[in-house]
Order: sequence, then C-alpha cells, then structure tokens
Amino acid sequence: MGKITFKFETDENKELECEIFEGESILEVALDNDINLNHNCGGVCGCSTCQVYVESGEELMPEMSDKEEDYVDRARNPRFNSRLSCQCKLEKEGDLVVTIPTQKGIIGH
Ligand code: FES
Repeated sequence: MGKITFKFETDENKELECEIFEGESILEVALDNDINLNHNCGGVCGCSTCQVYVESGEELMPEMSDKEEDYVDRARNPRFNSRLSCQCKLEKEGDLVVTIPTQKGIIGH
C-alpha cells in the first residue's frame, strides 16, 4: 500500500492525497477520486490521453514498455517523467507524487 499525492498543472496550489494499493493503477486511483483524467482507450495502452508526470516514486511501478514509450512520444507536451497512468500499477509499497497535466484541448473522456 502507499499514498499518491496528486498535483495539478492547472492549479499549483491544489494537492490531493489518496491511498493506492498494490496492483492498482494511477489511473484507477485518479478516477476513483473524481480527478478529471482522460483515458480514451479504456486503460489498455492504446492511446496517450492518460499521460501523467511522475515526480517521484517511479521505482515503485513497472518499467515502461516499448509500447508505452511509443504512446508517450505521441502525448501532448511529454516530459522526461511522463508515464501513461493506466500502465503504472503499484508494485512496491511506497509513496508517489504525480502531476496531472492540463486536460484542456484533449478530445476524450
Ligand atoms: S487510457 Fe489509453 S493508454 Fe492509458
């Protein structure tokens, strides 16, 4: 088990702390906590709309696959710490800090 601190690109003063359990993805935790995060393919590594920026704790999750890397390259404003949130399932106990990019301009759901 661990904790995710969500930060928001659109509001630097806002933070939200949530629990995450092993096997759960960042996307699942975000959606369970009513965070607006697009996920057009439904969480099967088939789009890039669920991109997040992992500020710390990346070592608690699986390494990025080649497929995920391909989609991250196509994301809006990718950064060195971009990951697809649906592919980031907690493997080890610990805490994460994740920034949700602006969802403006993403056509999705
Ligand atoms: S929801 Fe499509 S890759 Fe994550």
